[in-house]
Amino acid sequence: MISRRDWLSRSLAGALVTRLGLSETVAQPKPSFPLIISTWNNRRANEAGWAILSKKGRSLDAVEAAARVPEADPKDTSVGYGGLPDRDGNVTLDACIMDEQGRAGSVSFLQHIMHPISVARQVMEKTPHVMLSGEGALQFALANGFKKENLLTDSSRKAWEDWKKESKYKPVVNIERHDTIGVLAVDANSNFSGACTTSGLAYKMHGRVGDSPIIGAGLFVDNEIGGACATGLGEVVMRALGAFLVVELMRQGKTPQQACEEAIRRMVKKTPEYRDLQVGILAVNRAGQYGAYSIQKGFNYTLTTGGETLVREADFFMK
Ligand code: GLY
Repeated sequence: MISRRDWLSRSLAGALVTRLGLSETVAQPKPSFPLIISTWNNRRANEAGWAILSKKGRSLDAVEAAARVPEADPKDTSVGYGGLPDRDGNVTLDACIMDEQGRAGSVSFLQHIMHPISVARQVMEKTPHVMLSGEGALQFALANGFKKENLLTDSSRKAWEDWKKESKYKPVVNIERHDTIGVLAVDANSNFSGACTTSGLAYKMHGRVGDSPIIGAGLFVDNEIGGACATGLGEVVMRALGAFLVVELMRQGKTPQQACEEAIRRMVKKTPEYRDLQVGILAVNRAGQYGAYSIQKGFNYTLTTGGETLVREADFFMK
């Protein structure tokens, strides 16, 4: 477990490199498993995962428990219940999960189910497939005991009705400083798992699916190397297969921070309109190092290890 002293020195080193605008290569933390790290300010989600990890539970259970927190939170407008709908007023959800054996489960364009992450896990565990989509995913969920629910809250309906007055189809950067939730966890046995869940781009076209349920785009875990997850505009992440790219860069020897920076640079290079959008990436490797980087200011992440939780601002490309 990480000591408070290690934790402080890591934080100070991180703050210093951030101030200097450097990659976080000077802070080489010792392995400190278990740990859980998630996109954005997500303390309650991390705590739900930590409750499992701290009792020597499995990282797969931890990431699922963590993802379920924002999914059930009506105030979180980019995930699950209360998520902003598509342009026709439908809340459509994407989620995926991966475990330490490289098994994967995913649902896309799923409606009426509050916990898509748990449906994704059941796709992984109960079917010969990786991804179920739309009506088929809904039928599978209902057949496996999930309840059909209305996920549009009064507040998200009002936001949609306000949006319809102008119907401007433009992603909002760092929506309420919150967006797709990606979670990576390493348990006491040094096994990695990851989860990713979202209601996707607000006011998207009906049927649009983003990066979050695409294995390798929104999430990738390789127990030999580590894991990565993404948040932000899915189209940009999908074109680069962002999470897989980060894990492969780590396999080639880059630290998580270097890998996240390289992946974001590649996305920027092939996205002329990058100034108007946001992508954030988060990664952890087997050495217990972590990294985070985004296109623009405003991406943060939550790390819990040794029972302590810290929310940190990520370094970013657009200085
Ligand atoms: N990253 C979530 C989405 O674009 O749908």
